[in-house]
Amino acid sequence: MGRCPSCGEWNTLVEEGPQRAEPGRKRGRPEARKPVPLREVRAADVARMSTGNDELDRVLGGGIVPGAIILIGGSPGIGKSTLTNAALGSLQAAGRSTLYVSGEESAAQIRLRAERLGDDALAVPVLAETSLETVLSTLEGESPDVCVVDSVQTLHAEGLSGAPGSVGQVREVAARLERFARERGAAVILVGHVTKDGTLAGPRVLEHAVDCVLQFEGERERTYRTLRAHKNRFGSTNEIGVFEMREGGLTEVSDPSARFVREASAAPGSCVLCAMEGSRPLLVEVQALVAPTDAVPPRRIANGIDRNRLSLVLAVLARHAGRRLGGGVALGSADVFVSLAGGVRIEEPGADLAVALAVASAAQGIVPEGGPVACFGEIGLTGELRYVAHAERRLQEAGRFGVRRVLAPQSCLEDEGVGRIGIGAGAATLDQALVQALRPAAGARRAA
Ligand code: TYD
Ligand code: MG
Repeated sequence: MGRCPSCGEWNTLVEEGPQRAEPGRKRGRPEARKPVPLREVRAADVARMSTGNDELDRVLGGGIVPGAIILIGGSPGIGKSTLTNAALGSLQAAGRSTLYVSGEESAAQIRLRAERLGDDALAVPVLAETSLETVLSTLEGESPDVCVVDSVQTLHAEGLSGAPGSVGQVREVAARLERFARERGAAVILVGHVTKDGTLAGPRVLEHAVDCVLQFEGERERTYRTLRAHKNRFGSTNEIGVFEMREGGLTEVSDPSARFVREASAAPGSCVLCAMEGSRPLLVEVQALVAPTDAVPPRRIANGIDRNRLSLVLAVLARHAGRRLGGGVALGSADVFVSLAGGVRIEEPGADLAVALAVASAAQGIVPEGGPVACFGEIGLTGELRYVAHAERRLQEAGRFGVRRVLAPQSCLEDEGVGRIGIGAGAATLDQALVQALRPAAGARRAA
């Protein structure tokens, strides 16, 4: 069958020979074992290895755990090889033994990249090889503390039919590397490709087998890239790391809020969102463009936010808000584009209000006094502003970067500690928020 009748994916069926029972094994019931209460289970303290890159360490939950198997995915050219090579360089410089296995590039190509990354990266031992058996023998001989396999799709196991990168091959490669990692306590970082629709290529089984799944996001043409943990057995999945691609490799952007706020433009359609990414507050600029169109239905383009969330916000805007702003925001015959500056992606409901304000400001051509408004809050279907968590940390972050007023759901301002910060302005409904943010008050400009 070309297509799996269960998951609908193409070319995922693999042939497996019939299993023969191992000779000499006794039949009969295996011996029962005694389960142990968790309290009595001994867990050794793990010493995490720092990758020398604070952003990467944070996403990993504080560094690499020995024996862990980590999958890093991302589209071509985003910087997977650059990041892993630099990380191995730091580990090597810190006295760990490392190995960089590449099935994609020749050793000479890897050297050229490492030259741009500096001296540490040049100290990393490299093996350009695509045979899984050779890689495993080398690993056993060298026994590195940390090893990168770039990429898992290029290795092939002997004795298995199927081209490298096919489901059967990828599964086998991952399983055998995992066994090596567990037996030797070595950390293995698998680099994986990403398909057109943005999911990690190869089988989902890979995501089940590994301890961490990290996903590189962002566009190749943009400078900012984010690294996000989708699964992490040793840390939170809410963390993101922000990087910038420079001449000397991927550099950490330790204060992304400062960047994004500085770049925010005081034009209609701009709004600063006080977002939370896991435990980390992040200020980003939401931009909207509303343009008349003859297209039916009009276009709704969302970059960096969920498209369904945008539809919801537009529906609430159309139905519940803006009566007081002169007939409401008529979007039925307009294309709406919303994007987060810098190629960041935000997936929390707290972004709703910023999207609504950006669209309304774009539709009406109003620039609020003193530059873009800052805000956060979830929008409910009845047009109310709903509570979102971490109001205090969002406001603190905004205050840190000189924002003087942040629109927030009224209920958030009742949180402990919020009043002390003093820059929060509450609104109970989207309608009220629009009036507060976009009222063409004295000093506000109306753009053409
Ligand atoms: P790479 O890490 O090879 O991407 P991936 O392994 O994810 O396919 O390369 C990322 C891009 O970054 C590549 O097009 C070259 C560029 N780059 C820089 O701009 N500066 C640098 O210092 C390096 C090493 C790469
Ligand atoms: Mg690469």
